[in-house]
Amino acid sequence: MEKMWAGRTAGQTSALADDFNSSIHIDSCMYKEDIKGSMAHAAMLSQVGILTGEEADRIIAALEQIALDIESGALPIDMNAEDIHMFVESVLTKRIGDLGKKLHTARSRNDQVAVDIRLYMRGKCEEIQALLLDLIDAIVSVADAHQLDIMPGYTHLQRAQPIVFAHHLLAYAEMFRRDLTRVEDAKARMNVSPLGACALAGTTYPISRSMTSKALGFDGYATNSIDAVSDRDFCVELLSCFSIIMMHLSRFSEEVILWTSWEFAYVELDDAYTTGSSIMPQKKNSDMAELVRGKTGRVYGDLMGTLTMLKGLPLAYNKDMQEDKESLFDATETVSRCLEIFAPMIRTMKVKSENMYRAAQRGFINATDLADYLTKRGMPFRTAYKTVGSIVSDCIAAGKVLEDLSLEAYKAYSELFDQDLYEEISLKTCVSKRISEGATGFASVEKQIKDFKIFLNEKKG
Ligand code: ARG
Repeated sequence: MEKMWAGRTAGQTSALADDFNSSIHIDSCMYKEDIKGSMAHAAMLSQVGILTGEEADRIIAALEQIALDIESGALPIDMNAEDIHMFVESVLTKRIGDLGKKLHTARSRNDQVAVDIRLYMRGKCEEIQALLLDLIDAIVSVADAHQLDIMPGYTHLQRAQPIVFAHHLLAYAEMFRRDLTRVEDAKARMNVSPLGACALAGTTYPISRSMTSKALGFDGYATNSIDAVSDRDFCVELLSCFSIIMMHLSRFSEEVILWTSWEFAYVELDDAYTTGSSIMPQKKNSDMAELVRGKTGRVYGDLMGTLTMLKGLPLAYNKDMQEDKESLFDATETVSRCLEIFAPMIRTMKVKSENMYRAAQRGFINATDLADYLTKRGMPFRTAYKTVGSIVSDCIAAGKVLEDLSLEAYKAYSELFDQDLYEEISLKTCVSKRISEGATGFASVEKQIKDFKIFLNEKKG
């Protein structure tokens, strides 16, 4: 195949080199963005008098047709092409002759590819944001139904204090809400146009960068042409956002996996999101959650790969940068698929509240409340802490829980104990008395759910 860039060399590369050099397998997905960028470029070229209006119209019409033909399948993308930019341009030239060769005036593939990735990722970010919203919606709906369900809250994976299940779930909703804003911020920083930076130094043609930037929905254009074609910060930033989303999904997955084990039995996933074993008939495995946890490593790898690929590069464009799309698109696809499966998996899971409650009854998770009881009656907290510590230790030795001890037994530890201590350490009281803002108290959780519903409505509206 004749190379469009044959010039200094005759462009006679080995088939192996052609294949190695090609990025069509990864960048063909950006054909729409590539064509959109070219249309805006052609329109601008005619506005500033570099092309005639008629020339631009013909180029734009042909580009539009190419997009339609690729979309319909009438024009299959040639997987032997060097990249999507070369493919589109070569089809254009084939279809409208020499006029097609004018399109690349005052442009380089360096600014072209930088535009395409930004446009493409703008759309992908929106898709990921919608998936995040749907996941938050799923979490809030389960939380809403389990506002009163008491479970042990953990630190060090040891039973710590009673909480409600909704509160635990809403912690994840908060994480995904932050992820949503993080993607929004990254998207805003990415939304500047590199078009017109050309190879690196700008151009001698009287182009208008603001015109193309506006036509393509950018907030402005990159102000330094060398930076415009060298900058891949936005890829790193998006990959960081995606890595954080995966980290959150992975932590959630880990809990789902624990909760679905016989040891916890806090939830049961719908059959639609589980698998069986090929040998053990009793198995119901949380494969989706495990896969999400596993794929997290892959997205971190994409981030690390990109950071490492960029770290030694001199300005401006280097071919190393073609690797950016391998990692970025892989991470984009992975995070999307994980979010897509996670939301319905959470929405349909069955919560076994009675098991959670039973777990909350063991493990002395009301010990802090017992210490607070003494403190409120005048004992310094550190002393109360020690007193309750020895009560717990004696209970463990006797195979009892705090509720089992008689008032008489309590009085032996401190005269401050009275009959009302039992009410004070009931799990329900422990939860409902946690009234500080953002706490696990029933009213606080109800408010958190209400706020999330308002948030979701605003976002959907
Ligand atoms: N396929 C290339 C990439 O993705 C397009 C830019 C090529 N530029 C160049 N100077 N060879 O990076």
